[in-house]
Amino acid sequence: MSKKRQNYFVCSNCGYESTKWFAKCPSCNEWNTAVEFTADLFDDKANINIKTEPTELLFLDDEINEPEKLKTGFKELDEVLNGGFVESGVYLLAGEPGIGKSTLLTQISSSVGSENMVIYVSGEESAEQVFQRFKRLGIKKDGSKIGLIFENSLERIISVIEKLEEKPTMLIIDSIQTLKSENFSSFAGSILQVKEVTRYLSEYCKKKGITLIIVGHVTKGGIIAGPKVLEHMVDAVLQFELEKTSGLRMLRILKNRYGPTDELLMFEMTQKGLIPISEYTNYFLKDYKTASGNVLTIVKEGSKLIPIEIQALVSKPVYGNPRRVTSGAPLDRLLMIIAVLSKRLRLPIESKDIFLSTSGGFKISDTSSDLAIAYALLSSLFDISTGGSIVVMGEIGLDGNIRNINNLEKRIEFSKKLGIDYIVIPNSKKIKNNEHIKISNLSELVKRFF
Ligand code: TYD
Ligand code: MG
Repeated sequence: MSKKRQNYFVCSNCGYESTKWFAKCPSCNEWNTAVEFTADLFDDKANINIKTEPTELLFLDDEINEPEKLKTGFKELDEVLNGGFVESGVYLLAGEPGIGKSTLLTQISSSVGSENMVIYVSGEESAEQVFQRFKRLGIKKDGSKIGLIFENSLERIISVIEKLEEKPTMLIIDSIQTLKSENFSSFAGSILQVKEVTRYLSEYCKKKGITLIIVGHVTKGGIIAGPKVLEHMVDAVLQFELEKTSGLRMLRILKNRYGPTDELLMFEMTQKGLIPISEYTNYFLKDYKTASGNVLTIVKEGSKLIPIEIQALVSKPVYGNPRRVTSGAPLDRLLMIIAVLSKRLRLPIESKDIFLSTSGGFKISDTSSDLAIAYALLSSLFDISTGGSIVVMGEIGLDGNIRNINNLEKRIEFSKKLGIDYIVIPNSKKIKNNEHIKISNLSELVKRFF
């Protein structure tokens, strides 16, 4: 088969590929992220010639074996992973440096490694550091089946695994940015290395029935490939984030071929490693104070309800165009709410500087917090605060009407348990009981509170 060379471009932020150069990535909208590569392409005119053995054909009534699940040692994590890590599954654990990825994987390898062989590859820490972490986390040496490799070369790592008498059950790569294949001249951490090493490892592990866990540091821009490049290549993505107010580590399941997505787990980092938190509400409420511009809302993350404080500051612009700055809250929803308040209620808000944040910068994507955002804006604009704790929930339509939200009853129950004084909800026929404040549109909200 004849070969020809082809140039192509990969976005260093999200991994989008194109044969044409782009200034702005059409997939993630980042600027100046196109990095050029050359690849061998097989000639388009070559004929497909089928000579190999046929593959297996299955019928729906055939018996198929459920893949084996590896328990992580964390009941909560096993639940969101649908029983544990899947045999031959490829997982990406992404997060900023220092968030706790190596700690989590050390703890997981202790659980899996008590019965099965785990190979932990550390490309960025010394043997002493890694042994120290295992020791600090109280992981028993005796009878443990955890093997450690301190190496950056893919070929050398694979040759160690090939020589083992027993097939490992799990392979942990900490981190993918430190690995390099000798087949490519580019440096470790470049998009080409990250992609090719991941492609090789995932094919190798799938063929051998090994669960592969890849650590990816989240780094933005430049030629260091972010884990976004890998998201399409793996079966599941677990993302670690720091919630700044509470200091909790949030593990989000962003993609999952084997179970639910959008799930959220919370961990506390302690001297003894990461501990899952089930009673998390106090962590989010401990700094909440009633003041103008502050309000609580209840967001739903996977199966969890979380009380989140929204804070707004509406002030006279210092110079030039009014500014809109958000942290945690979505900017497009804020802009929409400002436009609706200005157009429907004729409030003098469009000319103001507006700052909006959630507690600890907790990311909300849920439109159910629209009404709370409007409440916080109005409360700051008029400088009026409710004399008591208040939870506000509801979606705002472009006409200024308040729409119902999913799981409203559950969110009300949850707010009651938190001991909230006022619960403000959309005027839903489903909610019979009249002890809550039902709001049909934004002018009603203004009349009732401001
Ligand atoms: P680490 O797992 O090394 O982060 P990552 O692999 O994501 O870069 O750990 C991050 C921090 O956690 C580090 O500053 C030390 C701290 N730590 C604890 O507080 N308790 C512990 O038991 C361990 C192992 C680490
Ligand atoms: Mg680490």
